[in-house]
Amino acid sequence: MKPRKIKENIYWMGSVDWDRRLFDSLVPLPDGTSYNAYLVEGSEKTVLLDSVDPARADELLSQLESVPRIDYIVSHHAEQDHSGTIPQVLAKYPKAKVIATPKAKPMLMDLLPIAEDAFITVEDGETLSLGDKTLQFIRTPWVHWPETMVTYLQEEKILFSCDFFGSHIATSDLFVSEEGRVYEAAKRYYAEIMMPFRNIIAKNLEKLAPYDVEMIAPSHGQIYTRPAFIMDAYRDWVHGSPRNTVVLPYVSMHGSTQKMVDYFVASLVEKGVRVELFNLAVTDIGKLAMSLVDAATIVVGTPTILAGPHPYAAYAAFLANALRPKTEFLSIIGSYGWGGKTVDTLAAMVPNLKVEVLDPVLYKGVPSETAFKALDHLAHTIAAKHRENGYTNEGKKS
Ligand code: FEO
Repeated sequence: MKPRKIKENIYWMGSVDWDRRLFDSLVPLPDGTSYNAYLVEGSEKTVLLDSVDPARADELLSQLESVPRIDYIVSHHAEQDHSGTIPQVLAKYPKAKVIATPKAKPMLMDLLPIAEDAFITVEDGETLSLGDKTLQFIRTPWVHWPETMVTYLQEEKILFSCDFFGSHIATSDLFVSEEGRVYEAAKRYYAEIMMPFRNIIAKNLEKLAPYDVEMIAPSHGQIYTRPAFIMDAYRDWVHGSPRNTVVLPYVSMHGSTQKMVDYFVASLVEKGVRVELFNLAVTDIGKLAMSLVDAATIVVGTPTILAGPHPYAAYAAFLANALRPKTEFLSIIGSYGWGGKTVDTLAAMVPNLKVEVLDPVLYKGVPSETAFKALDHLAHTIAAKHRENGYTNEGKKS
């Protein structure tokens, strides 16, 4: 794609990666992604904000063919999907300086062949004049590594936010065109990489509040012309109370755990509790992560295999522990053949979750009335806990 004009002397550059289906060899990308770089031409200096994934270097370099001079390259974040092409850009513009936080500089040098004297480090709040335009650098750690910052273009009121507020979407629309679609993609992205740091994200949101932002230009996905849409969504994900929802990742081998899960889902629904069900044998892990953003309860469904939980269930528990959602309650259901330590093993895998553990329902063999009664009891307990805490389908009753 060719450079695209956002405003006078401000251009989108980068690459739309329609085919990428996996990030970090882990995160599913059902809608592809984009690596956005931005060119800002001031009356005296020209700056490139971020670059692209090294696999897409040729596209950025061809977009830069008609750009005679770059004075600065702003590196908001050292991860290679944004920084990976900086060495090639520097090779084309050897006098350009790389602007980064003091924390980002050594990380960039660890990851990329960039000489130490190519860097200028900037402090929180520092400004840089491009002549008729002024950049202000704002430290926003953990979006999504510890070194990250964003840039505010004062005269145009544009916030260049890198991963912060980003979404993995490949599209030819430069600006957000369907908020519902972007909401889902941005929530998925928040869940996958930022949710564990939500206390720091909350501080970053607070820090940005005084800035008059008319446009947010992230380094993945589309540009927001209505910043309140995504900032409000982030506030809800970070501060909103848990919802009246059970997230139920499960796996079944011979159908017994499946029978228990099916019965349990029906029982929860009957009692007015929402359920998000994920068969771990086929599920999209990103969707599971997204569902954890605001669910009050997690129930893991697993058979016992090799004296412990099924490895897929262990994976879901590991993921939930790493993502540190604001979940309040946890339980386990499933069938076993002769014994094992499924509950102990799973419970030991989630030390980061500050949850009340509700009595698990593990049943020997094919479930019978006794198992179903126990599942009804667990569903009843969950519904009562959600009610007592005021959790509704929209959050918490005030
Ligand atoms: Fe898009 Fe954390 O890199």
